[in-house]
Amino acid sequence: MSHTAFALEPIETASIDELRALQLKRLQATLRHAYANSPVYRAKFDAAGVHPDDCRSLADLAKFPFTTKKDLRDSYPFGMFAVPRERCARIHASSGTTGKPTVVGYTLKDIDTWAGVVARSIRAAGARPGDMVHVSYGYGLFTGGMGAHYGAEKLGLTVVPFGGGQTERQVQLIQDFRPDIIMVTPSYMLAIADEFERLGLDPRSCSLRIGIFGAEPWTNDMRLAIEQRMGISAVDIYGLSEVMGPGVASECAETKDGPTIWEDHFYPEIINPETGEPVADGEPGELVFTSLTKEALPIIRYRTRDLTRLLPGTARSMRRMAKITGRSDDMMIIRGVNVFPTQIEELILKRSELAPHYQCILTREGPMDSLKVAVETRHGVAPDSLEARAAAKLLQHEIKVYVGSSVDIELRPEGGVERSVGKAKRVVDLRG
Ligand code: DLL
Repeated sequence: MSHTAFALEPIETASIDELRALQLKRLQATLRHAYANSPVYRAKFDAAGVHPDDCRSLADLAKFPFTTKKDLRDSYPFGMFAVPRERCARIHASSGTTGKPTVVGYTLKDIDTWAGVVARSIRAAGARPGDMVHVSYGYGLFTGGMGAHYGAEKLGLTVVPFGGGQTERQVQLIQDFRPDIIMVTPSYMLAIADEFERLGLDPRSCSLRIGIFGAEPWTNDMRLAIEQRMGISAVDIYGLSEVMGPGVASECAETKDGPTIWEDHFYPEIINPETGEPVADGEPGELVFTSLTKEALPIIRYRTRDLTRLLPGTARSMRRMAKITGRSDDMMIIRGVNVFPTQIEELILKRSELAPHYQCILTREGPMDSLKVAVETRHGVAPDSLEARAAAKLLQHEIKVYVGSSVDIELRPEGGVERSVGKAKRVVDLRG
């Protein structure tokens, strides 16, 4: 891409008819490719009694079986690939807290497609020719760092491949190099902001203009808090390694109304997580993706376990997804009530005495699960002060009223909640 990379690609504003026609053509080719070249997909399709020829409309996709993390684990490491391993230019893997990692592969063409959607995402965030991008997503098997990097490079920007960690040095280099854009998890952005202040620097006066945040759930209240604290415009980038990496969907700066799904490469569905039935656009459920152009690892109806809704396009013709409420894995059930960390986050951010560093700690007393919210007080507010205790009481009350659960609040001093350099760990399960 050159300077023309800053013009919208025609498909971003194409008519819905044109988009659907392209999707159907690409979907049919993907199903044929998966069936012909991946024994795992062939066995799954055969077992479900479907053949790629059965896909005559986009709605026919619902006849095909889902793919889950388990399918990838069972074929560890390369068993689902639809090209010989030698044709893969790169391998990534998601760590996974238990069991084997999920391994994904990319041909050179896949890497180029990926860089293209990340470039599109960075442009949608408001990048301008000549911008410098500081990448604080981790480099390595995690897709965040290299995914962001290749996209920024493809857009023709200057990339600083910092990666995660060494927070004080991150601040120093931001001061010295004067980047315009930062790509990082929202939780690690907060840790960098804290470090600015610890060093006696005002984060608002730094060179950054745009933050492209993702890899973990975060709320619009968190967006506002970060925007005000850093003096930047913040957008949401979504993705997962099984589908590609960052840049499956990303928010447009002019609307900031949820990530636009780059539907010419990734076909979204929302299903009822219990029945597996597709639900209508606008209805909440589990997000499912089918890749439309991937070679090495075509992914058919991958169950993301992320909960959201599909919304009509605004800044682009392509549909948007609402901010992710949470992963079904992170859902806590407290005395019969479903609770997500994002619901707690929204309420914490309403209290000026509290800092947006928090964890949900699950314990079991007898047959019941209990939830304790550990949250830091803001700089200069002591956890045992009257104002902090009043804020904790209010938070507890609001969680009861708005979420429907009785929880305990534990106030901690600044730095009392574990910082992560990548994805924040919001749920700590001590139930044994
Ligand atoms: O986190 C890819 C990525 C890197 C996305 C950098 C954005 C920025 P995984 O490690 O495979 O890949 O984790 C994917 O992270 O299923 C969601 O649960 C969560 N996630 C990613 N982006 C968002 C987001 C990368 N914007 C999993 N909002 C996904 C909420 C997100 N959750």
